[in-house]
Amino acid sequence: MALQIKSIEDYHKAYQKSIENPSKFWDEIAKDFYWKKKWDQTLSYDWSVPETKWFVGGKLNITENCLDRHLATKGNQTAIIWEPNDPKVKAKHITYRQLYSKVCAFANVLKNNGVVKGDRVCIYMPMIIELPIAALACARIGAIHSIVFAGFSSRALAARINDSKCKVLLTSDGGLRGDKIIPLKDIADNALKTCPSIKKSIIFKRTRQTVEWIKGRDLWWHEELAKVDDSCPAEVMDSEDILFILYTSGSTGKPKGMVHTCGGYMVYSTYSFLNVFQYRPNDIYWCTADIGWITGHSFIVYGPLTTGATTVMFEGIPSYPDFGRFWEICEKHKVTQFYTAPTAIRALAKHPLSFVTSHDLSCLKILGTVGEPINEEAWHWYNINIGKNKCPIVDTWWQTETGGIMISSLAGITKDKPTFATLPLPGIQPVLLNGDGIEITEIKAEGILAIKQPWPSLARTIYGDNKRYKNVYFSAYPGYYFPGDGALRDSKGNYRITGRVDDVIIVSGHNLGTAPIENAINEHEDIVESAVVGFPHDIKGNALHAYVMTYDGIIQNDKLIGEIRNLVTKTIGAIARPDKIQFVKGLPKTRSGKIMRRILRKIASGDTENLGDTSTLLNPEIVDDLQKGFAKGR
Ligand code: PRX
Repeated sequence: MALQIKSIEDYHKAYQKSIENPSKFWDEIAKDFYWKKKWDQTLSYDWSVPETKWFVGGKLNITENCLDRHLATKGNQTAIIWEPNDPKVKAKHITYRQLYSKVCAFANVLKNNGVVKGDRVCIYMPMIIELPIAALACARIGAIHSIVFAGFSSRALAARINDSKCKVLLTSDGGLRGDKIIPLKDIADNALKTCPSIKKSIIFKRTRQTVEWIKGRDLWWHEELAKVDDSCPAEVMDSEDILFILYTSGSTGKPKGMVHTCGGYMVYSTYSFLNVFQYRPNDIYWCTADIGWITGHSFIVYGPLTTGATTVMFEGIPSYPDFGRFWEICEKHKVTQFYTAPTAIRALAKHPLSFVTSHDLSCLKILGTVGEPINEEAWHWYNINIGKNKCPIVDTWWQTETGGIMISSLAGITKDKPTFATLPLPGIQPVLLNGDGIEITEIKAEGILAIKQPWPSLARTIYGDNKRYKNVYFSAYPGYYFPGDGALRDSKGNYRITGRVDDVIIVSGHNLGTAPIENAINEHEDIVESAVVGFPHDIKGNALHAYVMTYDGIIQNDKLIGEIRNLVTKTIGAIARPDKIQFVKGLPKTRSGKIMRRILRKIASGDTENLGDTSTLLNPEIVDDLQKGFAKGR
């Protein structure tokens, strides 16, 4: 593809061009895709609204780029290698032609069940091949998919379905995770009790346990497939039509439904995939993320398939049947690019090296990480033991909101640097701002990260709530996109992301807002109030510490702690369970009633001495109680 950067000179040239004349630059890049009608205007934007449009007037269908376009030249090439949870079960190799046929057939199932362009379809599925098929089938007919990670609870699922009023739910009887069966249909059924918009639920049979059935609403996937053929023309989509909604946590209780559109998302997710991972024909690329997160959307499904790559998807977990599972899969499928999260690297590094050395990893060419800052120790472990000191490591900084990778080295082309995401991709203009929102002009500096110009895959809005979109991303620093992260920059212009500057905590690479967790805890009848903060954790990066205040006379015992943890699991999912719960007499508050989280974070990290200025607190006496109670937290 003409859009691939092949040398450091190419990178500098492309970067320069992209800054001098973004429209001209992206115009040339976008020509490499298949459009049914060319766009009239490359970019139109006004971030005071905020509104951003790319490839205005262009018509396309992303599935024609992911599938149809490859049939003539790559029809028999493997598109997806699916590796099952159980290593004794054979992997599946799905060619582009087979995938095309399956997507078209399932698109017809959706149509048969009343789904039309613009309808929202919720997908709550395990990592089986039907998940990307379902997503692509939606895209084929112009329906908007909203994939909800299959680790979320009934209530979290219901909140997401209701927010975008999904018409159909796609799920499976269950999902396999190691030696456990997750009863997805049961969880989904529970959610559907409060989801009036859902008319049909189509269920794939994966784990074969008995499930409840509601006649008229529930349909078996295989029975519906038996009624259709595999011919389905692609719906003509406007460049700015919605491709999907994906929910991410925010600093209030309500998840934000980030809206991605067809044209810009396709161009930039593919551009960043191709250049960061330097994908070449015959490479076998594996991203270990779940498709329920943006990493899976962009770097298992859309980016690789639009490129015509072979992409691996894994149903299971890194520790089953043992801690060598990732490396066994790399060896077995001769993976060339391996992309995972720092939390997985840290977890695997804790186990004997023999889990790694018993596998031949000479196939690997490029390694990647995503989701949170990678610490120096994990970086070196990855580099030495997995990359054998010969694989470039791309540390990719980006977000659900950005759709594609924003800051990262380009493997083997621009230099990597431990713990640094390094340089922006062409088209991306990061800046560092000081507390007053002024751009810091010194190269070597630390500040608030912001982005100056639109790029094609910026999420266009929060579904149904452009006001909130404006407040969260465009109000704190007018004229910039504000991602919520802090960063430092070295003298060569490399960026290192230092972490969130808002109330979002990244736990095991999962983005969790403190507010929804606190709301869940506060639902317990014995609890007055709570505050959740992160503290450094060896494997998860951050873990959660909940400060909890009960009503007078309540017995603060392990039973109550168990109930609090279960409440969080039930409301959000196991990923949000606090590691530590500390009962307190009160929370440190400012005079305006805002919880002073800085103090709570310090105490939670074990630093009970240097709490800084506490004089502005309404209740400074509480600090002593918090410090004493820290050791007793469970
Ligand atoms: O804080 C940054 C962190 O993850 C946040 C985005 O989370 P999410 O939308 O769930 O998307 C994760 C996968 C793209 C960012 O605001 N983050 C992501 N990648 C990195 C990172 N922090 C440091 N280094 C990274 N490479």
